[in-house]
Amino acid sequence: MHAYLAEWLSLIIRWFHVIAGVAWIGASFYFVWLDNNLREPPEWKKQKGIKGDLWAIHGGGFYEVAKYHVGPEKMPAELHWFKWEAYSTLMSGLALLFAVYYFGNPGYLIDASKLDLSMGGAIAIGMGTLLGVMVIYEALIRSPLAKHGLAFGVVLFLILVAVAWGMFQVFAGRGAFIHVGAVIGTIMVANVFLGIVPAQRALVSAVEKGDTPDERVVMLAQRAMLRSRHNNYLTLPVIFIMISNHYPIFYGNEYGWAVLAAIGAITAYARHFFNLRHKQINKPSILIISALATLALIWAMAPSAPETAATHNADGTQVARVADADVSQLLATHCQACHAAQPSSPAFQAPPAGIMLETLEQLKLHHAKVYQAAVATQYMPLGNMTGITPEERSLLGQWLQENP
Ligand code: HEC
Repeated sequence: MHAYLAEWLSLIIRWFHVIAGVAWIGASFYFVWLDNNLREPPEWKKQKGIKGDLWAIHGGGFYEVAKYHVGPEKMPAELHWFKWEAYSTLMSGLALLFAVYYFGNPGYLIDASKLDLSMGGAIAIGMGTLLGVMVIYEALIRSPLAKHGLAFGVVLFLILVAVAWGMFQVFAGRGAFIHVGAVIGTIMVANVFLGIVPAQRALVSAVEKGDTPDERVVMLAQRAMLRSRHNNYLTLPVIFIMISNHYPIFYGNEYGWAVLAAIGAITAYARHFFNLRHKQINKPSILIISALATLALIWAMAPSAPETAATHNADGTQVARVADADVSQLLATHCQACHAAQPSSPAFQAPPAGIMLETLEQLKLHHAKVYQAAVATQYMPLGNMTGITPEERSLLGQWLQENP
């Protein structure tokens, strides 16, 4: 019952998290677009302190958008803030992290062959990393480095690669992936909470008092711009990471952290194309280079072709075929706790990925996937919780080759 309700809970939180994320990123894409498409206003608008003018049509009506140099003369009665989209994305994301990884299936997070963590230890490392990296980022953005946009970008990238590498040393692949995504998400929300919103608050209070913003307000606003730019470049990578942890070929890769680094670099670079295009600069070469880099990554990550099983021994005698009974036994010992119509593992209510491995017919049905998962890349059994040996893997591989 517990696992059954946990599935519902996880689905509902995930649904909420995706909606919150869409609202947040959708709004920020829209405002980036808006800023980049503002045009010089007519004279009478300039007189009012308006610096950017934009007309749009949507949902059957015309919209007139005006951006002020500083602010309107008088505070409007109602001012819309965009912050709850970010906060609710973080809160639902944390809830999901707890539901799926900390209180859900330990195999997603703990891989005893890497580090034999207790769940308490794993949670401490996970939460500590989220908080620690956020504190480092906050220190850096207040340092002189913030004046050098590109250098800051490079440092941030290297920090995130180090986090990815570190997470892969302590956690199972899927848990490592999600923590890298969560670290990025936390930095992004902290950008809103600790930088962008306070800068806006300072601006609003200056406008309310009828003051021209002083040096402090200007400095806060400049830093908020940088934070916004970082968030902008992080959107594509963070979404890729969040969805790629459903694809074992990514998180199950031995060099998963390097895969993440490559994907982060490619997707952030692709974002650059759109940012330039908004400013009427068209550089298709960026997209072409991104696509070529993706092809190179696909090539580099391809599992090596299966070694064809030897048919003869060194002395010329025929190699014995793998007995069906041995493979049935192997499935029972190493796979069926999870991959059964009724899994005995308390973490699963239904066979994961819908794959049942209770008979040799079922094994053949998932021939290619099993070869990929348990022989070529070895991300199955999950976290090797059932302790399969390399000999057993090659036995399974040989059987699969003999029974195509
Ligand atoms: C502790 C539970 C557990 C055990 C034991 C286990 N698996 Fe899995 N398996 C999973 C989970 C969970 C998934 C889904 C992974 C995901 O969606 O990220 C999965 C997915 C798979 C997939 C689909 C992978 C894909 O790319 O979609 C295959 C194939 C597979 N397992 C084969 C095996 C084989 C073969 C064994 C035994 C040698 C095994 N598993 C043992 C939990 C387990």
